[in-house]
Amino acid sequence: DPCEFRGEGARAVPLAGHVGFDSMPDQLVNKSVNHGFCFNILCVGETGLGKSTLMDTLFNTKFEGEPTQHNQPGVQLKSNTYELQESNVRLKLTVVNTVGFGDQINKEDSYKSIVEFIDTQFEAYLQEELKIKRTLHSYHDTRIHACLYFIAPTGHSLKSLDLVTMKKLDSKVNIIPIIAKSDAISKSELTKFKIKITSELVSNGVQIYQFPTDDETVAEINSTMNGHLPFAVVGSTEEVKIGNKMVKARQYPWGTVQVENENHCDFVKLREMLIRVNMEDLREQTHTRHYELYRRCKLEEMGFKDTDPDCKPFSLQETYEAKRNEFMGDLQKKEEEMRQMFVQRVKEKEAELKEAEKELHEKFDRLKKLHQDEKKKLEDKKKSLDDELNGFKQKKTAAELLQSQAQQAGGSTTLKRDKERKK
Ligand code: GTP
Ligand code: MG
Repeated sequence: DPCEFRGEGARAVPLAGHVGFDSMPDQLVNKSVNHGFCFNILCVGETGLGKSTLMDTLFNTKFEGEPTQHNQPGVQLKSNTYELQESNVRLKLTVVNTVGFGDQINKEDSYKSIVEFIDTQFEAYLQEELKIKRTLHSYHDTRIHACLYFIAPTGHSLKSLDLVTMKKLDSKVNIIPIIAKSDAISKSELTKFKIKITSELVSNGVQIYQFPTDDETVAEINSTMNGHLPFAVVGSTEEVKIGNKMVKARQYPWGTVQVENENHCDFVKLREMLIRVNMEDLREQTHTRHYELYRRCKLEEMGFKDTDPDCKPFSLQETYEAKRNEFMGDLQKKEEEMRQMFVQRVKEKEAELKEAEKELHEKFDRLKKLHQDEKKKLEDKKKSLDDELNGFKQKKTAAELLQSQAQQAGGSTTLKRDKERKK
């Protein structure tokens, strides 16, 4: 970590003899060399704009890679990692390519998979950082250090797809815009095109990577190079003999474009700036600016803050406790709500049952009354029938009496008659 030299409390004292910490820079270099470096480049650009060719040309090798078809349903990202070695320095290089960028009819969502990819790499690093047992020294850091944005050599203005995509990416990655296949455009047109692109980027508020000018050793070259952006590049792995030297070039019926000739294109400028001068700054900016922003947003989203509402420092412990209390409170509230709901339900059910019971009772009463009425009617009927029967019986007895009297009376008359007849 860089220490603060002019900080308060530290007093400059002279050394009386050799101590040895002047070997620190060598120690740092040795450590880094032993460990190796990693560098991750993202190439964003339409299909066939020369992305693969430029990577091959930049690193003087042939990375595998098939040309892509134009019929991709969406934008995908393809990542390849290579181990490169130059003298005794090892470089773990990852090249990520967009596949199918600009090929869809509806280009609205083209940037999304790129943003997602960059965020995924940040997230993986954050997760490693948040582990209790971190192994960051052996962790394969896949965060994108540089995004080469390939602009088609139209000579007109930037496409809206380019502006939208760069705008979405500029807070997440170091964007280095380049004009691809710049041998397709004349020198005077190229000058105008560069100016046009730069002004469009500015007016749309797109922040592209600026080569740093705070380090004296590179301040001059970097500030000059900032003025040459966006670099107009030509890629080729074909070698052509110029004089008595073999150089990378593209041959045309009317002449030869030499890739590494600064009068022909800005390829050398790009290589110098990207690999020889500013690779470490690109790595550093990725960590201290882009990753830091991602980390801050992510941790804030998780509820972590450095200060409380009164701007007093907030400890991790307190934040954790606060978050935990908040969670427990929520849980309790939920529980209480559920309990209330249960009670309410039981009450409702109870009322329903009571109502049903009442209805049942009423029905019973109704039936009972009906039954009683019926019974009473029958009894009345029985009584009237009984009365009738009694009446009938009385009449019958009376009739019988009458009959017997009549018979008696009749009998004596016959006897009288018989007696009279005998006389
Ligand atoms: P995809 O991976 O399919 O999207 O394509 P790419 O962007 O990787 O392009 P690639 O490098 O495969 O190049 C596509 C074609 O353009 C090839 O025929 C290359 O020879 C040609 N090409 C590459 N670079 C240049 C250049 O700087 N100028 C010109 N004129 N042609 C180039
Ligand atoms: Mg390719």
